[in-house]
This record gives sequence, structure tokens and C-alpha cells, in this order.
Amino acid sequence: MNVSGKTAICFTLAHPASHVRTPAAFNAVCQQRGTDAAMVALDVPACGLAPFFAVLRGLANVTGAVITVPHKTAATSLCDDLSPRAQAIGAVNVVRRRSDGSLHGDMLDGVGFVGGLRGADHAIEGRNVLLAGAGGAARAIAFALAEAGVARLAVCNRTQSHALDVVERVRRAFPNVAACVATADPDSFDIIVNATSLGLKNGDPPPIDVSRLRAGQLVAEIIMQPERTALIVAAEAAGARIHLGKAMLEAQLDLIVELLAPPPAEAAP
Ligand SMILES: NC(=O)c1ccc[n+]([C@@H]2O[C@H](COP(=O)([O-])OP(=O)(O)OC[C@H]3O[C@@H](n4cnc5c(N)ncnc54)[C@H](OP(=O)(O)O)[C@@H]3O)[C@@H](O)[C@H]2O)c1
Repeated sequence: MNVSGKTAICFTLAHPASHVRTPAAFNAVCQQRGTDAAMVALDVPACGLAPFFAVLRGLANVTGAVITVPHKTAATSLCDDLSPRAQAIGAVNVVRRRSDGSLHGDMLDGVGFVGGLRGADHAIEGRNVLLAGAGGAARAIAFALAEAGVARLAVCNRTQSHALDVVERVRRAFPNVAACVATADPDSFDIIVNATSLGLKNGDPPPIDVSRLRAGQLVAEIIMQPERTALIVAAEAAGARIHLGKAMLEAQLDLIVELLAPPPAEAAP
């Protein structure tokens, strides 16, 4: 990679940042396409988020940033405008800096998750889904699954009020989807999704009651590192089909590159 003063620079903001894989994947795609752009991971604690956004507005060769844990919700109020889906979800995972310094936020996690399922030929329409988690990624996934036509969407989460917030947002936007707060029992569901952070750390317990998994179910993970979480191992042992977290990033990578590594004519001066 030949980074110069003309290179379109962008970032992945996370805290901690040691596990993030988006920069490597983004840079590989740009290199493959001959696009003069580079992404670097930045470890930004919560207190650094607003100061970073203020500086970002004035950086002429920076095209924006991918936003990840724990900043997706906080970043919404630091953008000048949001896509309709980011507005409805209340979270962003990509911020594009326009050439006038203004910041546009969008949320591609849900699009990526559903694209990954479809890419692996997993049916979504009419399915009963248990979604574990109620953070930024979970909210995006809930909206994308509802849009893709699931019949029932049940949300379980450590903090019940967060699960209820997701359910109420989905009910408002998709009145035809039966959305509810649920326990961590996966027995009555076709698809089970882990959209919590549980599984990132060695020794994390699974987000649902894995003793109730069975053959015929699809268990989808969104954690990418480690690739095989305790949930995935338990799902395989129970005879369920599995879907790994990397599919979600792969499916949204093209969209991220389109936004943050635009062709030279559109790139920030
Ligand atoms: N594959 C991909 O492309 C992709 C994309 C985005 C994110 N991810 C992964 O998805 C995960 C979640 O991201 P996010 O942006 O949604 O994070 P987030 O907004 O911080 O939400 C975290 C979620 O995990 C729950 N949680 C955290 N620690 C927990 C614990 N100790 N016990 C039980 N529940 C716990 C939270 O519950 P509370 O509401 O109770 O706090 C919340 O539901 C991250 O691991 C991230 O790496 C993957």
C-alpha cells in the first residue's frame, strides 16, 4: 500500500480497538481495486468521541469513519444528518465527511447481516427469530429482519428496558411483524441471532440457553473474533445449522468502500 498526501484516509473508531478487522478488509479491497484509500483503527474512549468528531470536520483528506463498539448510539448526535434508517434505528456505523466538512451518518449493520444470510441461501421471510441483544448492531439487525419479512421477532437482552425500546421501535415501523420481549429460551424459534458482545472475551457465557437448541434451527453469530464462539460450538453440538459473524462484514464491505473510498472525482480534496 502506497499512502501519500493524496490518499483518502478513513478510520474505524472503537474502544478497545485491538480486535477490529474492518481496516484490514477495507484496505485489501481498495488495494485490489487500485483505489487510493487507507483505513486505520483508532482506539477512542467515550470521552474522546466528541473531540474526535470536531477535529474530523476540519481534516480535508479524511473521508470519514466506521463506528463500532461502544460508540454507535452516541455518534448519532454528533452527525449533521442521518439516513432515514439510521434515524429510525437511533445508531450509526459509518460516518461520511463531505468536502464541506459536514458529517452524514448511516447504519449498514442490518443490511450486511441480512445480505450475509441471503448470500448463504438462508430463508428469512415468514421465520420466527430470537434476537439476543439490544445495542446498535441488534437494533439495525432487528429493522433489517423486519424489513425482510420475518413473521415474529423476539428480543432478549440483559437490560430489559433496552429490549423493550427495540421492540417498540420495530412495532412502530413494521406493524405487521409480531415483535416482543422474550426470555433466552430458543426452543420455539427457527433462527437465533447473537447480537450481544458476549463471545468476544474468552470465558463469556453464551447469550441464550444453549441446552434448548436443536437440529433444524439456524444459529447466527455476529461476533467475528473469535470466529467460533461458545454459542457456535454449542449450536453445532446440538445439530443446528450455523452462520458465522464474518458474513455480516463481508456483505457490507462493498457499501463501506463506496462511502469512504469514493472514486477520485468524488474524493475529498
Ligand atoms: N460481524 C459484524 O460485521 C459486526 C458488526 C457490528 C458489530 N459486531 C459485533 O456485535 C457486538 C455488539 O455490537 P454493538 O455495536 O451492538 O454493541 P453495543 O451497542 O455496545 O451493544 C452491546 C449489547 O451486548 C449486551 N451485552 C454486553 N455485555 C454483556 C454482558 N456481559 N452480558 C450480557 N449482555 C451483554 C448489551 O446488553 P445491555 O443492553 O444490557 O447493555 C447490548 O445488548 C460486538 O461484539 C461487535 O463486535 C459485529
